[in-house]
Amino acid sequence: MMIRQSPLFLGLIQTSLSKVSARCLTAEAAYALREDEAMPRHEEYANIDWNNLGFSPRRTDYMYKSTCASNNTFDQGQLIDYGNVELSPAAGVLNYGQGLFEGTKAVRGEDGRILLFRPDQNAIRMQIGAERMCMQSPSVKQFVDAVKQTAIANKRWIPPPGKGSLYIRPLLIGTGPILGLSPAHEYTFLVYASPVGNYFKEGTASLNLYVNNDFHRTTRGGAGGVKSITNYAPVLKPLLRAKEQGFSDVVFLDSVHKKYIEEVSSCNIFLVKGDVISTPSTVGTILEGITRKSIIDIAHDLGYKVEERLVTVDELMEADEVFTTGTAVTVANVGSITYNGQRVEYKTSDCGLVSQKLFKRLVGIQSGKIEDKYNWVVAIH
Ligand SMILES: Cc1ncc(COP(=O)(O)O)c(C=O)c1O
Repeated sequence: MMIRQSPLFLGLIQTSLSKVSARCLTAEAAYALREDEAMPRHEEYANIDWNNLGFSPRRTDYMYKSTCASNNTFDQGQLIDYGNVELSPAAGVLNYGQGLFEGTKAVRGEDGRILLFRPDQNAIRMQIGAERMCMQSPSVKQFVDAVKQTAIANKRWIPPPGKGSLYIRPLLIGTGPILGLSPAHEYTFLVYASPVGNYFKEGTASLNLYVNNDFHRTTRGGAGGVKSITNYAPVLKPLLRAKEQGFSDVVFLDSVHKKYIEEVSSCNIFLVKGDVISTPSTVGTILEGITRKSIIDIAHDLGYKVEERLVTVDELMEADEVFTTGTAVTVANVGSITYNGQRVEYKTSDCGLVSQKLFKRLVGIQSGKIEDKYNWVVAIH
């Protein structure tokens, strides 16, 4: 008697090789996965409230893993069960912070397609960061394939259209053991994902920002321009202090003159004065956001003049409108900024808001509702 196995069954190979998990899923099987396929172990999935996702990690089904040992090339990589990672206590990432991360997202279009937004740009940014941090990095192709596979394997976690996105988090970490300060000899590229809603607890309401002039996110010659994990823990103290006082987030100033605005803890910042949009130029201390780049292109096409230059905090306080951009926040309108005890308020409910126009255009393209003349969207299903 001949027994036919489904692609999913064939793809679920039991292996004892992976220390991370016992189950692997081939890329072919990931693409063949049906969303209603039973995935036991996940009561959380049954209880998920798509209307109140927030922004916290959920244990999805699969993650992607590839390793680069001393031959300097990453292995083919595979999807494995989402789960804990085993590391040497001497791993480069744990001891010397050799680690980079990225953030991109998959959304479900109205027509049911699964859409990614400019994943190649995340791949390139990871390569630039890896060069700065003396790490090996995966090729752009491997990075994009890994993101696609992770999205497809976890597709049942992609929220319904308009409810949020599957936030995809590629990580590159030095996993080889080292004791003296030097680059690790082994790197691991991991991609995991979690369904998310709004980044800020304010939801779509406007943000109240606090300009911090005691703490700096980065300095000239530092690594502020790359997405190194080492840039984020130092931000927690000013961020928590600001949140305790009821602010949504912190605007950081440059560390030399303490008068030019740089960025917010996890997003870029723009101001509008008259019909000119200005944003701090990326001079190595600011992360060059993919949303920032896209918004600049969209704004030009909508007829705005956009300036990338040094922007003083005084200009920020005198702006007509302020907004922030990022993968997680998309385009978020700012309602107030507090600096040196002075609070200024901005337009937030005018339907002619520049940030609203930019938000609608960006989200329209990302969700497949507006024609993507830029070729930014990658449909994977
Ligand atoms: C410090 C910082 N600035 C800006 C951004 C926005 O970048 P992107 O638009 O690529 O998400 C992020 C988010 O990744 C960030 O962490």
